[in-house]
This record gives sequence, structure tokens and C-alpha cells, in this order.
Amino acid sequence: MKYVIVYWSRYGNGKKVVDSLAGKLKEKGAETKIYTTDEADPVAMPKADVYIFSAATEAFNIRKDMRAFMKNLKGMEERKYGIINTHGMKKDRLQKMEKLLSKKKMEKVASVDFQVGDGSQTGNGLMEGWEAKLDEFVGQL
Ligand SMILES: Cc1cc2nc3c(=O)[nH]c(=O)nc-3n(C[C@H](O)[C@H](O)[C@H](O)COP(=O)(O)O)c2cc1C
Repeated sequence: MKYVIVYWSRYGNGKKVVDSLAGKLKEKGAETKIYTTDEADPVAMPKADVYIFSAATEAFNIRKDMRAFMKNLKGMEERKYGIINTHGMKKDRLQKMEKLLSKKKMEKVASVDFQVGDGSQTGNGLMEGWEAKLDEFVGQL
């Protein structure tokens, strides 16, 4: 299996999640590539079995860099995806990602959100139990 992960993270909490995810996928023998939204090219995405998009909520929505990236995606019809959202408040914004990717005719296989708390501005805000939650997500990919 080949996975391509694209993420946006301000403080490092989301980065910690995708780095851990990549490690877990590699342990399963998968090939995994990670890019930030700045590094990846939405009109020339490398081939993969599943694409994973991860971003923080900012201003009650998915961070604008990720929304722009998703809006610009081309040639992704029928490709599979998983989505990850980190957020400081109780509510996740996964549906915002889902809506943008359904417009690209992509197919969802998994989604997960992580609330951040104390220490989030140092990249250490993930709540207890986040790794178990991530394992469950990995099981769905
Ligand atoms: C400018 C700004 C706006 C934010 N707005 C929201 C928000 O509307 N809702 C929310 O749940 N979290 C909000 N947050 C918290 C972020 O979601 C949180 O810092 C982020 O998920 C942490 O992940 P990161 O370390 O990968 O950036 C905001 C954070 C910043 C810096």
C-alpha cells in the first residue's frame, strides 16, 4: 500500500499526529510520503492508494491553506482518502473537509479528530488517549 499525507499544522500538534501515523503505516509495511500543504502540488499529486489530509481548525473552519489546497486538487476522482482535524474547542470540522473532497469525487475511508488542550501552543496539547484513537484510524485505512 502507498499513502500520501498532506498536512497543515501551526504549533506542531497535527504534525505530531501525522508523523506518528506515518510511523505506524511504515510498521505495517506501507510506503508513506508526507508533505505540508506548501510542499505538495494539488494539481500533480503522486499516485497513492489512500490520501490523508490533516489540518487544524482556525476561525471556526479548516485552516484556509488546507481549504485552498483541497479546492485546487485535480485528477483525484475515485481516489480514497482519510481526514484528520485538530481543534481547540469541542466541535470538529471534519465535515468541511468532507464537503470539499466530495466535490472532487473522492471516496472517504476514514476520519478522526483530536481536541487539543493545555500546552497546545507548544505542540504538546494532544489529549490522553490520542494514540489509541490514531490506532483505530489506522485500522480503517
Ligand atoms: C488563530 C487561531 C484560531 C483558532 N480558531 C479555532 C476555532 O475556531 N475552533 C477551534 O476549535 N480551535 C481553534 N483554534 C485552535 C487550533 O485548532 C489548535 O491550535 C490547533 O488544532 C492545534 O494544532 P496545530 O498544533 O497542528 O496547529 C485556533 C487557533 C489559532 C491559532
